[in-house]
Amino acid sequence: MASTNGIVVRSARTEERDQILRLSEICFGMRVGPADIEYGPRVFPTERALVAVDGDRIVGHTNDHTMTVTVPGGGTVRACGVTSVVVAPTHRRRGILRALYTEQHRRTEAEGVPLTIFTASEGTIYGRFGYGPTVVEVDFTVRGRAAEFRPSTPDPGGVQVVSLDEAKTVLPEIYDRWRRLVPGAQVRPEARWQQRVFADSIQTEDGAPQFFLTHPDGYAILRRAWSDEGNTATVRELRAVTPEAHIALWRVLLNLDLVKKVVASTSDNDPLPHLVTDPRLVHVTARHDALWARIMDVPAALTARTYQRDLDLVLAVDDPFRDAGGNFALRIRDGLAECEPTDRSPDLELGIDVLSSLYFGAYRARTFAAANRIQAKDTAELRAFDEAFTSDRDAELGWFF
Ligand SMILES: CC(C)(COP(=O)(O)OP(=O)(O)OC[C@H]1O[C@@H](n2cnc3c(N)ncnc32)[C@H](O)[C@@H]1OP(=O)(O)O)[C@@H](O)C(=O)NCCC(=O)NCCS
Repeated sequence: MASTNGIVVRSARTEERDQILRLSEICFGMRVGPADIEYGPRVFPTERALVAVDGDRIVGHTNDHTMTVTVPGGGTVRACGVTSVVVAPTHRRRGILRALYTEQHRRTEAEGVPLTIFTASEGTIYGRFGYGPTVVEVDFTVRGRAAEFRPSTPDPGGVQVVSLDEAKTVLPEIYDRWRRLVPGAQVRPEARWQQRVFADSIQTEDGAPQFFLTHPDGYAILRRAWSDEGNTATVRELRAVTPEAHIALWRVLLNLDLVKKVVASTSDNDPLPHLVTDPRLVHVTARHDALWARIMDVPAALTARTYQRDLDLVLAVDDPFRDAGGNFALRIRDGLAECEPTDRSPDLELGIDVLSSLYFGAYRARTFAAANRIQAKDTAELRAFDEAFTSDRDAELGWFF
């Protein structure tokens, strides 16, 4: 395929799987467990991967899976979900990642997929390829049984502790209803459920057992681990289709006996702190990006989602990596967008990484303008652009890849 400084970039072969796993282990500094060995190729087939080869050694790797992702308004977009990006420590900073990415993004363009997404290990690498952080995750802890619910907080009930077998029949259907509402959430492959979510209940790497709580419109998956500090309940996943399910599940989780600490992650505007009498008890420990995105086709991506107000603007989008940039006339009426290339002069200039950050509604245009990353002709246009791109539902990552 492509060759740079004697390094050949080509499709991987099935029999190269072991070599790729060994490369991933040294690059990420961890051993790949049996569950991952079984799960990986079922979602990310080895033959789909690209490898960089030096002689007979694999020194670089990337793979992807085309996902269906929800956008603001409840529509979906196809997205190339990139994973396992690694370059051998012996071959770093010689342009191998760039060569792999060039081929991978060429292939994504040829397949007509309008968006690429991934979870980034470092914040400084991917802007140059047109990526921006696009989904925010907030980690928090609550002291066990310390939180009291406000008198105004309903007590909907309806939560049950279910077995692994019951969880297997109930959770995927609830998840699917949830992900249709939530920007950033992806369709979850069957192998992800079986080999990762449910398999973790049988064979836990740290010995912490996994339990399932369900409600007709939600569920929580939690681990309970004992240490010298007592018992910690870690909520691995909580999905609530309705506000009632959210409240009902949290009423159980915050009242678990013997639990010293509940640890969980959520989005920016989770109502939990406002359901309890002391919002400070929901103690935020970290706020970080959970997903990065790069728009590959501006008109296709922008017309897939809906918007919060009418707009008539020409955007100048700069794409330093591919040719997806240019001037685009964006017209929004009643939430729906029309977008096409234009020769008209721009009202607003921004990089494709910034436009990608705004895509799911989690990051605000006004913040990027304050950081000198958006240049607008006037403040009224900037305000309209900022408001239009917000979303009435927080973006969340459906499953990590
Ligand atoms: C991150 C990694 C894939 C980079 O591979 P690489 O082959 O060394 O990268 P390249 O030489 O192609 O660099 C491409 C560009 O990114 C920059 N870059 C690469 N790694 C960087 C880093 N860690 N921090 C800042 N910039 C970085 C390079 O300077 C280069 O810039 P330029 O092309 O604009 O001049 C490799 O270091 C690695 O495997 N790291 C450990 C695993 C990991 O973090 N993978 C990423 C998962 S999302």
